Amino acid sequence: MTAEIIDGKAFAAGLRARIATLVPAFEAAAGRVPGLAVVLVGEDPASAVYVRSKGKQTREAGMASFEHKLPADTTQADLLALVDQLNADASVDGILVQLPLPKHIDEQEVLLRISPEKDVDGFHPVNAGRLATGLEGFVPCTPLGCLMLLEDKLGSLSGLDAVVIGRSNIVGKPMAALLTKASATVTLVHSRTRNLPHYLRHADIVVAAVGIPHFVKGEWLKPGATVIDVGINRTEDGLVGDVDFDGAASVAGAITPVPGGVGPMTIACLLRNTLVAAHRNAG
Ligand code: GUN
Repeated sequence: MTAEIIDGKAFAAGLRARIATLVPAFEAAAGRVPGLAVVLVGEDPASAVYVRSKGKQTREAGMASFEHKLPADTTQADLLALVDQLNADASVDGILVQLPLPKHIDEQEVLLRISPEKDVDGFHPVNAGRLATGLEGFVPCTPLGCLMLLEDKLGSLSGLDAVVIGRSNIVGKPMAALLTKASATVTLVHSRTRNLPHYLRHADIVVAAVGIPHFVKGEWLKPGATVIDVGINRTEDGLVGDVDFDGAASVAGAITPVPGGVGPMTIACLLRNTLVAAHRNAG
């Protein structure tokens, strides 16, 4: 079997184009465009690339991008003061503080300071709790993008067996919550799980978010499974995912490539969340 390649790049371009068509209606009603503020602390090269893409795609969708680049030695107090300023700014609908932050910064305190109404990353505990209890809120962008790709490929996920590999607050935990909400039967496995292949053998859906290059092997998969690879690992061979792509593609029914799979969906979902935030904040 050779898996169908799930084209996240094309899906994300379509989603961004749809969002761009909705911005003028917001502007006509609110008298301003939706605004996204992105905060980058320090010079991590990968983060700088992400932040540049976020700004560019925000502007291309017709929204305002406010970029705040702070030096690596920015104090906790100065970063919190900037978040306070953005919380109070009516032209800012969404606030994103790029992670990871430098070691001397208390990340949790910063994320807690972002107003839940502007938390387009969905990292604030209020939004995490809303997702866990089935209330409306902001859903983290990467798992939201994965869910969109899965529902586009499979239709209803009801009753399907899903295994999420990784328990991070950014991907694994919200992914498990979203799949549970979609009525899949969800198993969350992680680095301490014993006998991982045992869990994967029955999985109709596999979402890999462990951050280990080529970790998931083709022979672990159920034939025909849909495999979503969230990994973006920089290696000597360039960018590779958490899934051994060649091995998995010969067993799976469908699989996302790296790059060009989940990655482009994250920013498209960020724009979606920003437009939703704008409507909620203006209404
Ligand atoms: N770093 C890697 N992914 C993300 C993300 O989705 N949001 C933020 N804020 N930082 C990240």
